Amino acid sequence: MDTESEDGLIWPKIHPLKLFDAAKSQNRLLYACAPMVRYSKLAFRQTVHHFGTDLCWTPMILAKEFNRSRFARDSDLTISTPTPVPAPGRKGEGDGCGVRDEEVPTIAQFGANQPLELSRAASLAAPYVNGVDLNCGCPQSWACAEKLGAALMERRELVRDMVVETRARLSRDGWAVDLANYDSNPDVDPRAGRGRSVSVKIRVHSDLRRTMDFITTVLGDEHNRNIDWLTIHPRTRRTPSSVPINIEALEILTSTYGTKLPVLVSGDVFTLSTLPYTSHLLDPQPTFTTTSSSSITPDNAADSPHPPPTTRKPHLPNLSGLMSARALLANPALFSGLDSCPWEAVDVFMTNVARAPLPLKLGVHHLTEMCGPGFGPDRNAALLTKKERVRLTEMGNWVDVIDYMDEIRSQRGGEGGMVRLA
Ligand SMILES: Cc1cc2nc3c(=O)[nH]c(=O)nc-3n(C[C@H](O)[C@H](O)[C@H](O)COP(=O)(O)O)c2cc1C
Repeated sequence: MDTESEDGLIWPKIHPLKLFDAAKSQNRLLYACAPMVRYSKLAFRQTVHHFGTDLCWTPMILAKEFNRSRFARDSDLTISTPTPVPAPGRKGEGDGCGVRDEEVPTIAQFGANQPLELSRAASLAAPYVNGVDLNCGCPQSWACAEKLGAALMERRELVRDMVVETRARLSRDGWAVDLANYDSNPDVDPRAGRGRSVSVKIRVHSDLRRTMDFITTVLGDEHNRNIDWLTIHPRTRRTPSSVPINIEALEILTSTYGTKLPVLVSGDVFTLSTLPYTSHLLDPQPTFTTTSSSSITPDNAADSPHPPPTTRKPHLPNLSGLMSARALLANPALFSGLDSCPWEAVDVFMTNVARAPLPLKLGVHHLTEMCGPGFGPDRNAALLTKKERVRLTEMGNWVDVIDYMDEIRSQRGGEGGMVRLA
Protein backbone atom coordinates (compact mmCIF):
# COMPACT_ATOMS: atom_id res chain seq x y z
CA MET A 1 0.00 0.00 0.00
CA ASP A 2 1.26 3.47 -0.85
CA THR A 3 0.88 4.88 2.63
CA GLU A 4 2.07 8.41 1.84
CA SER A 5 -0.35 9.14 -0.97
CA GLU A 6 -3.27 7.50 0.81
CA ASP A 7 -2.85 9.38 4.07
CA GLY A 8 -5.63 11.80 3.16
CA LEU A 9 -8.04 8.87 2.90
CA ILE A 10 -7.17 7.39 6.25
CA TRP A 11 -10.04 8.10 8.55
CA PRO A 12 -9.62 6.30 11.85
CA LYS A 13 -7.02 8.17 13.85
CA ILE A 14 -7.38 6.84 17.38
CA HIS A 15 -5.40 3.89 18.67
CA PRO A 16 -7.89 1.86 20.76
CA LEU A 17 -5.40 1.56 23.64
CA LYS A 18 -5.66 5.33 23.99
CA LEU A 19 -9.39 4.83 24.58
CA PHE A 20 -8.65 2.38 27.39
CA ASP A 21 -6.32 5.01 28.89
CA ALA A 22 -8.95 7.73 28.49
CA ALA A 23 -11.65 5.63 30.18
CA LYS A 24 -9.31 4.87 33.07
CA SER A 25 -8.41 8.51 33.49
CA GLN A 26 -12.14 9.22 33.69
CA ASN A 27 -12.30 6.64 36.45
CA ARG A 28 -14.52 4.26 34.53
CA LEU A 29 -14.39 1.06 32.52
CA LEU A 30 -14.15 1.12 28.73
CA TYR A 31 -17.50 0.47 27.03
CA ALA A 32 -17.67 -1.77 23.97
CA CYS A 33 -20.30 -2.97 21.52
CA ALA A 34 -19.87 -6.68 20.85
CA PRO A 35 -19.43 -8.21 17.43
CA MET A 36 -22.84 -9.50 16.38
CA VAL A 37 -23.34 -11.29 13.11
CA ARG A 38 -26.13 -9.45 11.21
CA TYR A 39 -26.55 -6.70 13.81
CA SER A 40 -23.45 -4.66 14.65
CA LYS A 41 -23.49 -2.82 11.33
CA LEU A 42 -22.62 0.81 10.75
CA ALA A 43 -25.96 2.48 11.63
CA PHE A 44 -26.14 0.52 14.87
CA ARG A 45 -22.51 1.18 15.75
CA GLN A 46 -23.03 4.89 15.19
CA THR A 47 -26.09 4.77 17.44
CA VAL A 48 -24.39 3.08 20.38
CA HIS A 49 -21.37 5.37 19.97
CA HIS A 50 -23.69 8.37 20.19
CA PHE A 51 -24.77 7.07 23.62
CA GLY A 52 -21.32 6.61 25.08
CA THR A 53 -19.96 3.32 23.70
CA ASP A 54 -16.22 3.83 23.22
CA LEU A 55 -15.32 1.00 20.88
CA CYS A 56 -17.48 -0.96 18.41
CA TRP A 57 -16.85 -4.33 16.81
CA THR A 58 -18.06 -5.24 13.35
CA PRO A 59 -19.83 -8.58 12.98
CA MET A 60 -17.44 -11.45 12.33
CA ILE A 61 -16.20 -11.27 8.73
CA LEU A 62 -14.85 -14.41 7.08
CA ALA A 63 -11.27 -13.49 6.16
CA LYS A 64 -11.15 -15.90 3.26
CA GLU A 65 -14.12 -14.30 1.48
CA PHE A 66 -13.00 -10.79 2.41
CA ASN A 67 -9.60 -11.38 0.83
CA ARG A 68 -10.93 -12.90 -2.35
CA SER A 69 -13.92 -10.77 -3.22
CA ARG A 70 -14.35 -7.03 -3.54
CA PHE A 71 -18.10 -7.59 -3.23
CA ALA A 72 -17.63 -9.34 0.11
CA ARG A 73 -15.50 -6.43 1.28
CA ASP A 74 -18.08 -3.87 0.20
CA SER A 75 -20.95 -5.68 1.86
CA ASP A 76 -19.18 -6.84 5.04
CA LEU A 77 -17.33 -3.68 6.02
CA THR A 78 -19.17 -0.38 5.82
CA ILE A 79 -17.57 2.63 7.43
CA SER A 80 -18.42 6.30 7.64
CA THR A 81 -16.33 9.14 6.31
CA PRO A 82 -15.83 12.42 8.11
CA THR A 83 -18.34 15.21 7.70
CA PRO A 84 -16.59 18.50 6.91
CA VAL A 85 -16.70 20.88 9.85
CA PRO A 86 -19.26 23.58 9.00
CA ALA A 87 -18.02 27.12 8.56
CA PRO A 88 -18.89 29.43 11.47
CA GLY A 89 -22.42 30.81 11.17
CA ARG A 90 -23.46 28.10 8.69
CA LYS A 91 -26.07 25.56 9.54
CA GLY A 92 -24.20 22.39 10.45
CA GLU A 93 -23.94 19.33 8.25
CA GLY A 94 -25.25 17.44 11.24
CA ASP A 95 -28.74 16.10 10.81
CA GLY A 96 -30.71 18.16 13.29
CA CYS A 97 -30.89 15.15 15.58
CA GLY A 98 -27.52 15.65 17.14
CA VAL A 99 -25.92 13.03 14.88
CA ARG A 100 -22.75 13.76 12.94
CA ASP A 101 -20.26 11.52 11.24
CA GLU A 102 -17.61 11.60 13.89
CA GLU A 103 -15.05 8.83 14.23
CA VAL A 104 -16.66 5.72 15.63
CA PRO A 105 -13.66 3.71 16.79
CA THR A 106 -14.17 0.37 15.09
CA ILE A 107 -12.62 -3.06 15.37
CA ALA A 108 -13.02 -5.37 12.38
CA GLN A 109 -13.51 -8.88 13.67
CA PHE A 110 -12.39 -11.73 11.46
CA GLY A 111 -13.04 -15.42 11.36
CA ALA A 112 -9.82 -17.04 10.15
CA ASN A 113 -7.66 -20.06 10.79
CA GLN A 114 -4.50 -19.30 8.85
CA PRO A 115 -1.86 -16.62 9.50
CA LEU A 116 -1.82 -15.56 5.86
CA GLU A 117 -5.61 -15.19 5.66
CA LEU A 118 -5.86 -13.10 8.82
CA SER A 119 -2.88 -10.90 7.99
CA ARG A 120 -4.15 -10.24 4.46
CA ALA A 121 -7.61 -9.34 5.70
CA ALA A 122 -6.08 -7.08 8.35
CA SER A 123 -3.97 -5.39 5.72
CA LEU A 124 -7.03 -4.71 3.55
CA ALA A 125 -9.14 -3.45 6.46
CA ALA A 126 -6.50 -1.39 8.28
CA PRO A 127 -7.01 1.93 6.44
CA TYR A 128 -10.66 1.95 7.47
CA VAL A 129 -10.72 0.59 11.05
CA ASN A 130 -8.85 1.18 14.30
CA GLY A 131 -7.91 -2.42 14.83
CA VAL A 132 -8.52 -6.05 13.96
CA ASP A 133 -9.74 -8.86 16.17
CA LEU A 134 -9.74 -12.63 15.82
CA ASN A 135 -12.88 -14.53 16.76
CA CYS A 136 -11.95 -17.51 18.94
CA GLY A 137 -15.40 -17.82 20.46
CA CYS A 138 -18.02 -18.60 17.82
CA PRO A 139 -19.55 -21.90 19.02
CA GLN A 140 -21.68 -22.59 15.95
CA SER A 141 -21.16 -26.03 14.50
CA TRP A 142 -20.46 -24.80 10.95
CA ALA A 143 -17.69 -22.52 12.27
CA CYS A 144 -16.13 -25.22 14.43
CA ALA A 145 -16.33 -27.69 11.52
CA GLU A 146 -14.32 -25.16 9.50
CA LYS A 147 -11.84 -24.94 12.42
CA LEU A 148 -12.90 -21.34 13.00
CA GLY A 149 -14.22 -19.54 16.09
CA ALA A 150 -14.27 -21.59 19.29
CA ALA A 151 -12.40 -24.45 17.58
CA LEU A 152 -9.33 -22.18 17.79
CA MET A 153 -9.40 -22.48 21.58
CA GLU A 154 -7.82 -25.91 20.98
CA ARG A 155 -5.07 -24.45 18.78
CA ARG A 156 -3.22 -21.87 20.82
CA GLU A 157 0.05 -21.99 18.83
CA LEU A 158 -1.84 -21.37 15.62
CA VAL A 159 -3.65 -18.39 17.17
CA ARG A 160 -0.31 -17.00 18.35
CA ASP A 161 1.13 -17.42 14.86
CA MET A 162 -1.88 -15.67 13.36
CA VAL A 163 -1.61 -12.59 15.57
CA VAL A 164 2.19 -12.44 15.24
CA GLU A 165 1.95 -12.61 11.45
CA THR A 166 -0.81 -9.99 11.45
CA ARG A 167 1.22 -7.54 13.53
CA ALA A 168 4.20 -8.08 11.25
CA ARG A 169 2.12 -7.51 8.13
CA LEU A 170 0.53 -4.33 9.49
CA SER A 171 3.95 -3.06 10.49
CA ARG A 172 5.33 -3.75 7.00
CA ASP A 173 2.35 -1.83 5.61
CA GLY A 174 3.41 1.21 7.62
CA TRP A 175 0.99 0.96 10.54
CA ALA A 176 2.14 1.62 14.09
CA VAL A 177 1.45 -1.62 15.94
CA ASP A 178 3.81 -1.01 18.82
CA LEU A 179 1.13 -0.92 21.50
CA ALA A 180 0.32 2.78 21.19
CA ASN A 181 3.76 3.84 22.43
CA TYR A 182 3.78 6.94 20.36
CA ASP A 183 2.55 10.47 20.66
CA SER A 184 -0.88 11.23 19.24
CA ASN A 185 0.25 14.68 18.12
CA PRO A 186 1.35 14.52 14.44
CA ASP A 187 3.74 17.44 15.01
CA VAL A 188 5.60 15.34 17.58
CA ASP A 189 5.33 11.88 16.03
CA PRO A 190 4.78 11.16 12.32
CA ARG A 191 3.11 7.84 13.23
CA ALA A 192 0.23 9.65 14.95
CA GLY A 193 -3.07 8.46 13.50
CA ARG A 194 -1.48 5.31 12.11
CA GLY A 195 -1.81 3.18 15.23
CA ARG A 196 -3.70 -0.08 14.77
CA SER A 197 -4.49 -2.80 17.31
CA VAL A 198 -4.56 -6.59 17.14
CA SER A 199 -6.72 -8.44 19.65
CA VAL A 200 -8.57 -11.71 20.22
CA LYS A 201 -11.95 -12.62 21.69
CA ILE A 202 -12.12 -15.93 23.49
CA ARG A 203 -14.36 -18.29 25.41
CA VAL A 204 -13.11 -20.35 28.35
CA HIS A 205 -12.50 -24.09 28.71
CA SER A 206 -14.18 -26.12 31.43
CA ASP A 207 -10.65 -26.79 32.69
CA LEU A 208 -9.46 -23.23 33.27
CA ARG A 209 -5.78 -24.27 33.18
CA ARG A 210 -6.21 -24.80 29.44
CA THR A 211 -7.53 -21.26 29.06
CA MET A 212 -4.52 -19.97 30.98
CA ASP A 213 -2.16 -21.94 28.73
CA PHE A 214 -3.96 -20.46 25.75
CA ILE A 215 -3.70 -16.87 26.97
CA THR A 216 -0.07 -17.24 28.03
CA THR A 217 0.88 -18.60 24.61
CA VAL A 218 -1.05 -16.01 22.62
CA LEU A 219 0.08 -13.11 24.80
CA GLY A 220 3.81 -13.90 24.49
CA ASP A 221 6.26 -11.55 26.21
CA GLU A 222 4.11 -9.26 28.32
CA HIS A 223 6.52 -6.35 27.71
CA ASN A 224 6.30 -6.81 23.96
CA ARG A 225 3.02 -8.59 23.71
CA ASN A 226 1.41 -10.13 20.64
CA ILE A 227 -2.06 -8.75 21.38
CA ASP A 228 -3.12 -5.32 22.57
CA TRP A 229 -5.99 -6.60 24.72
CA LEU A 230 -8.12 -9.63 25.31
CA THR A 231 -11.90 -10.03 25.41
CA ILE A 232 -13.12 -12.90 27.55
CA HIS A 233 -16.57 -14.39 27.21
CA PRO A 234 -16.58 -16.53 30.34
CA ARG A 235 -18.65 -19.38 28.99
CA THR A 236 -17.40 -22.56 27.38
CA ARG A 237 -18.33 -23.26 23.79
CA ARG A 238 -21.08 -25.55 25.04
CA THR A 239 -22.59 -23.21 27.66
CA PRO A 240 -25.89 -21.70 26.45
CA SER A 241 -26.22 -17.93 26.81
CA SER A 242 -29.14 -18.40 29.22
CA VAL A 243 -26.66 -19.79 31.77
CA PRO A 244 -24.90 -17.04 33.77
CA ILE A 245 -21.28 -16.28 32.90
CA ASN A 246 -18.64 -18.05 34.99
CA ILE A 247 -17.72 -15.28 37.43
CA GLU A 248 -15.13 -17.39 39.21
CA ALA A 249 -13.27 -17.98 35.95
CA LEU A 250 -13.49 -14.27 35.18
CA GLU A 251 -12.10 -13.41 38.60
CA ILE A 252 -9.13 -15.77 38.17
CA LEU A 253 -8.37 -14.66 34.62
CA THR A 254 -8.60 -10.93 35.31
CA SER A 255 -6.45 -11.23 38.42
CA THR A 256 -3.83 -13.25 36.50
CA TYR A 257 -3.76 -11.33 33.23
CA GLY A 258 -5.44 -7.99 33.89
CA THR A 259 -2.16 -6.46 35.04
CA LYS A 260 -0.38 -7.64 31.89
CA LEU A 261 -2.89 -6.35 29.33
CA PRO A 262 -6.35 -4.78 29.28
CA VAL A 263 -9.10 -7.38 29.69
CA LEU A 264 -12.68 -6.83 28.55
CA VAL A 265 -15.54 -9.01 29.71
CA SER A 266 -18.25 -10.03 27.28
CA GLY A 267 -21.38 -11.63 28.67
CA ASP A 268 -24.33 -10.61 30.83
CA VAL A 269 -23.58 -6.88 30.74
CA PHE A 270 -27.29 -6.08 30.98
CA THR A 271 -27.21 -2.67 32.71
CA LEU A 272 -24.47 -0.77 34.52
CA SER A 273 -26.44 -1.03 37.75
CA THR A 274 -26.97 -4.81 37.77
CA LEU A 275 -23.52 -6.20 36.99
CA PRO A 276 -22.69 -9.37 38.90
CA TYR A 277 -19.27 -7.96 40.03
CA THR A 278 -17.82 -4.70 41.24
CA SER A 279 -14.83 -2.60 40.24
CA HIS A 280 -13.29 0.61 41.50
CA LEU A 281 -13.97 1.85 37.96
CA LEU A 282 -17.70 1.38 38.40
CA ASP A 283 -19.74 4.08 40.00
CA PRO A 284 -21.85 3.67 42.05
CA GLN A 285 -20.37 0.61 43.71
CA PRO A 286 -23.02 -2.07 43.97
CA THR A 287 -22.13 -4.56 46.68
CA PHE A 288 -24.79 -7.20 46.44
CA THR A 289 -26.29 -9.12 43.62
CA THR A 290 -28.61 -12.04 43.19
CA THR A 291 -27.32 -15.43 42.19
CA SER A 292 -29.45 -15.41 39.11
CA SER A 293 -29.31 -11.72 38.20
CA SER A 294 -27.10 -12.58 35.30
CA SER A 295 -29.46 -15.21 34.00
CA ILE A 296 -32.26 -12.78 33.26
CA THR A 297 -33.80 -13.71 29.96
CA PRO A 298 -36.72 -12.09 28.21
CA ASP A 299 -38.76 -15.20 28.88
CA ASN A 300 -38.25 -15.90 32.52
CA ALA A 301 -37.29 -12.87 34.54
CA ALA A 302 -40.60 -11.10 34.90
CA ASP A 303 -42.38 -14.37 35.55
CA SER A 304 -40.31 -15.60 38.46
CA PRO A 305 -42.40 -15.29 41.63
CA HIS A 306 -39.46 -16.00 43.95
CA PRO A 307 -36.80 -13.38 44.56
CA PRO A 308 -33.44 -15.14 44.18
CA PRO A 309 -31.07 -15.40 47.16
CA THR A 310 -28.54 -12.65 47.74
CA THR A 311 -24.77 -13.15 47.48
CA ARG A 312 -21.71 -10.91 47.72
CA LYS A 313 -20.34 -9.70 44.40
CA PRO A 314 -16.70 -10.36 43.58
CA HIS A 315 -14.49 -7.31 43.13
CA LEU A 316 -12.53 -7.25 39.85
CA PRO A 317 -9.80 -4.61 40.24
CA ASN A 318 -8.02 -5.63 37.04
CA LEU A 319 -10.97 -5.56 34.69
CA SER A 320 -10.60 -2.83 32.04
CA GLY A 321 -13.86 -2.86 30.14
CA LEU A 322 -17.36 -4.10 29.51
CA MET A 323 -18.64 -5.46 26.22
CA SER A 324 -22.35 -5.89 25.65
CA ALA A 325 -24.26 -7.67 22.88
CA ARG A 326 -27.89 -8.56 23.58
CA ALA A 327 -28.60 -5.78 26.06
CA LEU A 328 -27.09 -3.13 23.78
CA LEU A 329 -29.30 -4.38 20.96
CA ALA A 330 -32.29 -3.78 23.22
CA ASN A 331 -30.97 -0.52 24.66
CA PRO A 332 -28.29 1.31 22.66
CA ALA A 333 -28.16 3.90 25.48
CA LEU A 334 -27.07 1.28 28.03
CA PHE A 335 -23.60 2.77 28.49
CA SER A 336 -25.01 6.21 29.10
CA GLY A 337 -26.37 4.67 32.29
CA LEU A 338 -30.01 4.21 31.26
CA ASP A 339 -31.60 0.91 32.25
CA SER A 340 -34.11 0.92 29.39
CA CYS A 341 -34.19 2.24 25.86
CA PRO A 342 -35.26 5.89 25.47
CA TRP A 343 -37.20 7.18 22.44
CA GLU A 344 -34.17 9.30 21.66
CA ALA A 345 -32.22 6.13 20.84
CA VAL A 346 -34.92 5.14 18.36
CA ASP A 347 -34.63 8.61 16.74
CA VAL A 348 -30.86 8.43 16.51
CA PHE A 349 -31.00 4.91 15.06
CA MET A 350 -33.61 5.85 12.42
CA THR A 351 -31.54 8.88 11.41
CA ASN A 352 -28.45 6.74 11.10
CA VAL A 353 -30.32 4.16 9.04
CA ALA A 354 -31.38 6.91 6.65
CA ARG A 355 -27.71 7.71 6.09
CA ALA A 356 -26.23 4.20 6.35
CA PRO A 357 -29.11 2.04 5.13
CA LEU A 358 -29.98 -1.40 6.43
CA PRO A 359 -32.35 -3.89 4.80
CA LEU A 360 -35.91 -3.22 5.97
CA LYS A 361 -36.32 -6.51 7.85
CA LEU A 362 -33.07 -6.01 9.70
CA GLY A 363 -33.86 -2.41 10.60
CA VAL A 364 -37.31 -3.39 11.83
CA HIS A 365 -35.81 -6.20 13.87
CA HIS A 366 -33.57 -3.62 15.56
CA LEU A 367 -36.61 -1.46 16.30
CA THR A 368 -38.56 -4.34 17.82
CA GLU A 369 -35.57 -5.10 20.05
CA MET A 370 -35.27 -1.46 21.14
CA CYS A 371 -39.01 -1.14 21.75
CA GLY A 372 -39.32 -4.41 23.69
CA PRO A 373 -38.89 -5.16 27.39
CA GLY A 374 -35.08 -5.32 27.17
CA PHE A 375 -32.76 -6.51 29.90
CA GLY A 376 -33.15 -3.84 32.59
CA PRO A 377 -34.41 -4.51 36.09
CA ASP A 378 -37.90 -3.28 35.19
CA ARG A 379 -39.01 -6.12 32.94
CA ASN A 380 -42.40 -4.55 32.39
CA ALA A 381 -41.29 -1.31 30.76
CA ALA A 382 -41.21 -1.11 26.97
CA LEU A 383 -41.68 1.57 24.35
CA LEU A 384 -44.20 -0.53 22.39
CA THR A 385 -46.66 -3.23 23.39
CA LYS A 386 -46.15 -6.70 21.98
CA LYS A 387 -49.07 -6.14 19.61
CA GLU A 388 -47.52 -2.90 18.36
CA ARG A 389 -44.20 -4.64 17.80
CA VAL A 390 -45.88 -7.39 15.80
CA ARG A 391 -47.63 -4.72 13.72
CA LEU A 392 -44.24 -3.12 13.09
CA THR A 393 -42.91 -6.35 11.61
CA GLU A 394 -45.75 -6.30 9.07
CA MET A 395 -44.68 -2.98 7.54
CA GLY A 396 -43.62 -3.21 3.91
CA ASN A 397 -41.43 -0.13 3.61
CA TRP A 398 -39.57 2.48 5.65
CA VAL A 399 -42.13 5.23 5.05
CA ASP A 400 -44.83 3.09 6.69
CA VAL A 401 -42.46 2.29 9.57
CA ILE A 402 -41.75 5.97 10.17
CA ASP A 403 -45.44 6.91 9.94
CA TYR A 404 -46.41 4.12 12.31
CA MET A 405 -43.81 5.10 14.91
CA ASP A 406 -44.88 8.76 14.65
CA GLU A 407 -48.52 7.77 15.05
CA ILE A 408 -47.84 5.77 18.21
CA ARG A 409 -45.78 8.53 19.70
CA SER A 410 -48.38 11.18 19.01
CA GLN A 411 -51.03 8.91 20.59
CA ARG A 412 -48.85 8.78 23.69
CA GLY A 413 -48.42 12.55 23.61
CA GLY A 414 -45.37 14.40 22.30
CA GLU A 415 -42.21 12.58 23.23
CA GLY A 416 -44.03 9.28 23.64
CA GLY A 417 -43.31 7.27 26.74
CA MET A 418 -43.11 3.82 28.14
CA VAL A 419 -46.03 1.46 28.07
CA ARG A 420 -46.54 -0.79 31.06
CA LEU A 421 -46.68 -4.36 29.89
CA ALA A 422 -48.02 -5.68 33.16
C1 LIG B 1 -26.95 -12.11 17.46
C2 LIG B 1 -25.57 -12.38 17.96
C3 LIG B 1 -24.51 -12.43 17.08
C4 LIG B 1 -23.21 -12.66 17.55
N1 LIG B 1 -22.16 -12.64 16.67
C5 LIG B 1 -20.89 -12.73 17.14
C6 LIG B 1 -19.78 -12.52 16.29
O1 LIG B 1 -19.91 -12.24 15.10
N2 LIG B 1 -18.53 -12.64 16.83
C7 LIG B 1 -18.33 -12.92 18.16
O2 LIG B 1 -17.17 -13.00 18.61
N3 LIG B 1 -19.37 -13.09 18.99
C8 LIG B 1 -20.64 -12.98 18.53
N4 LIG B 1 -21.69 -13.08 19.39
C9 LIG B 1 -21.42 -13.27 20.83
C10 LIG B 1 -21.41 -11.90 21.52
O3 LIG B 1 -20.40 -11.09 20.99
C11 LIG B 1 -21.22 -12.04 23.03
O4 LIG B 1 -19.94 -12.56 23.31
C12 LIG B 1 -22.29 -12.92 23.68
O5 LIG B 1 -23.56 -12.68 23.12
C13 LIG B 1 -22.38 -12.65 25.19
O6 LIG B 1 -22.67 -11.32 25.43
P1 LIG B 1 -24.12 -10.79 25.91
O7 LIG B 1 -24.48 -11.53 27.17
O8 LIG B 1 -23.89 -9.32 26.15
O9 LIG B 1 -25.11 -11.10 24.84
C14 LIG B 1 -22.99 -12.87 18.94
C15 LIG B 1 -24.07 -12.82 19.82
C16 LIG B 1 -25.34 -12.56 19.36
C17 LIG B 1 -26.49 -12.48 20.35
